Amino acid sequence: MSQTSVIAYCRPGYENDAANELTTRYGEVSIYGYPVSKKNSGFVLYHLYDAQQLSNAIAEFAVRDTIFPRQLIAAFATLANIEKEDRVGQILECLKDVEKPLSIFGAIDIEYPDTEEGKTLAKFCKKFTVPMRQALRKAGWLTAKENTGKAKIHIFFESFETCHIGYSLPTHASKDHLGICRLKFPSDSPSRSTLKLEDALVNMLSSQEQTKVLRSGGRAVDLGACPGGWTYQLVKRGMYVEAIDNGLVADSLMQTGLVEHHAADGFTYKPQFGRVDLLVCDMIEQPDRVAKLMGDWLVKHWATHAIFNLKLPMKRRFETVEDAVALLKTRLHALEDAFSVKVRHLYHDRDEVTVTIIRTSKHEV
Ligand SMILES: C[S@@+](CC[C@H](N)C(=O)[O-])C[C@H]1O[C@@H](n2cnc3c(N)ncnc32)[C@H](O)[C@@H]1O
Repeated sequence: MSQTSVIAYCRPGYENDAANELTTRYGEVSIYGYPVSKKNSGFVLYHLYDAQQLSNAIAEFAVRDTIFPRQLIAAFATLANIEKEDRVGQILECLKDVEKPLSIFGAIDIEYPDTEEGKTLAKFCKKFTVPMRQALRKAGWLTAKENTGKAKIHIFFESFETCHIGYSLPTHASKDHLGICRLKFPSDSPSRSTLKLEDALVNMLSSQEQTKVLRSGGRAVDLGACPGGWTYQLVKRGMYVEAIDNGLVADSLMQTGLVEHHAADGFTYKPQFGRVDLLVCDMIEQPDRVAKLMGDWLVKHWATHAIFNLKLPMKRRFETVEDAVALLKTRLHALEDAFSVKVRHLYHDRDEVTVTIIRTSKHEV
């Protein structure tokens, strides 16, 4: 069966949010289609009405500029009722009937949904990679040597019987298998939440932004800091941190001499020396309230940059985030400075998204 759709991988349970986002974003640029997804499946298919728009659709925006998708694939074929014997042969047969979307691909990834059911496919997908790669090289679909500068072919097994064949663009895709960046938990961190901030620092900031924002000797405020997983990431990079929370900050952090703990309300706290380089915030609060607070700090120049989480409601999550961030952007637009604003539902986030706001001019230093 031939099918043309963009596949978005997402956290299981967030299919509707990814679907709403794709429908909105593609609607804005007149790439019309309709989303199809199953709850908790970990992916969404956005079927295009016009198959010719597939290459435009996949080039329209990068994964890093979306909120809920972990990866975006331009799927040009779907193979159902796959028999157990000779899956490679069945895929090659299917490819004979489709128009090659690009002259050649540089790499291959065999993938599956990030669900309990999907994980039963992991071993098979790993084993299947080598024979499939060899067969595609022989058939002229893949370069003889891996070339990560070219588009990658993805074969996404939603089950043992059904797979989607598509591609991603190196400039637009996540480099990670399944779109998941796994980070090792640092055993000396006081909480697992540390991985949320590390994921944001590593995956949402460019290397230049990391150098600029995380200067050793720089100053940060951490609102809702306890027990200190986010503060840990900043201290690890040599920053001084004002940690604000009525709870206790881990002793190991206090002993570094880089942390000042203030048992205060994050909504009324003011920075000790009038301003800091970076404001971070992980308070569990209404997203519009947190977004407003972050806006206040940036507008008043109490903080140069901000990184924070917005906790998501049960319903209308995409709309809630869009509204909160749109209001914040309107306030920032009124300033002389320019800002780079990114919003991502990171692998280490749960019912929350991470927002990074990096000031790119004027009052930067
Ligand atoms: C999710 S935890 C933060 C975890 C922390 N980022 C870490 O990595 O260890 C949320 C924290 O926000 C704090 N909090 C909630 N409302 C607050 C407020 N209004 N002012 C200060 N802290 C607040 C809570 O006490 C709690 O410790």
